Amino acid sequence: MANVQHIGTAMQEVLKRAKAMQTHYENSKPTSEHGNQFECEDCRDTGSLIDRIYDDEYEREKDFFRPCHCQETRNLKNRFKNALIPSEFENARFDNYKRDTEVQRLLFDSTHDYLKEFQSIVNVKPEHNSLGFIAVFGESRIRNLDGEARAEVKISHNNFGLGKTHLQMAAAKWIMNRVRVRDEIALGQKSKYDRGCRVLCVSDVSFMDELTNAKRMNDEGLTLSKLLNSALTVDVLLWDDLGKAKWSESKENFYYQIINERYRNKRPIIFSSNEDTGTLSEKIGYAASSRLLGMCGERLYKVEGADYRLRKGA
Ligand SMILES: Nc1ncnc2c1ncn2[C@@H]1O[C@H](COP(=O)(O)OP(=O)(O)OP(=O)(O)O)[C@@H](O)[C@H]1O
Ligand SMILES: [Mg+2]
Ligand SMILES: [Zn+2]
Repeated sequence: MANVQHIGTAMQEVLKRAKAMQTHYENSKPTSEHGNQFECEDCRDTGSLIDRIYDDEYEREKDFFRPCHCQETRNLKNRFKNALIPSEFENARFDNYKRDTEVQRLLFDSTHDYLKEFQSIVNVKPEHNSLGFIAVFGESRIRNLDGEARAEVKISHNNFGLGKTHLQMAAAKWIMNRVRVRDEIALGQKSKYDRGCRVLCVSDVSFMDELTNAKRMNDEGLTLSKLLNSALTVDVLLWDDLGKAKWSESKENFYYQIINERYRNKRPIIFSSNEDTGTLSEKIGYAASSRLLGMCGERLYKVEGADYRLRKGA
């Protein structure tokens, strides 16, 4: 009896001390920028919540950390930040894309159909996983025509300002908001949590310039490999104006390296180009274009129509 009494008192003492420590800890804990309030009251901005669970193996309770719901919002914000969506397309959405002409409906419907399949594309990794909008009559083909023929083809086969980029940026946002990716292996274990889908938007001319400059840098290829790595490994690469940059052998190597690696790992590319299948091959190289067009399968759309930028009343 005395023993029980003793244990009881000792326990009380431990609890008292634990409480004092807790208070000390709370008081000494740095507060958030908002004074005493935390951005997330649930986890107090630590990013994780603790569950008490019973461990069958050791027959005792233990703490189990799980990510707090606020991490999801934070991760989403980060995904948007890292996606590098150009500011002029911040407002590009599906609900503000007009569907008055045939080509607008084709672009809209094909993007919509692709997104309907997209979660399954991410899960199953099929061979045909990409989406491309290209021209019927490529920019460099038009440029090679002379005088009158050129002016005529330019009008009858216009591929500019159709809203290709508008829709693909809207698709990028949709994907980041909704699509989940489950990494198969994380630190040698089966991953417990899936995560949001990561997107990277690059614009051909500036991206090729960046790569070219990085290659010239005297930093043992560090900048170059960082740049390349993000394009190779991101879940979805959105490539705007593909084949717009002036051709060079070193650019052709970059195109091949990126496209081939994504092709081998079945990672989607969403792209738009003002070139046609023939001229695109000349700009990015046949090896790269054959893989890329193969990745699209049926989802390669040759589009032309009226330039939205030049519409009446604009
Ligand atoms: N159907 C549409 N409804 C609303 N806005 C549109 C539509 N089509 C294009 N726009 C707007 O017109 C501008 C040009 O569109 P966008 O840049 O997407 O065209 P594009 O086909 O990518 O052209 P380019 O080949 O020149 O890059 C953008 O500001 C876009 O938001
Ligand atoms: Mg565009
Ligand atoms: Zn939280």
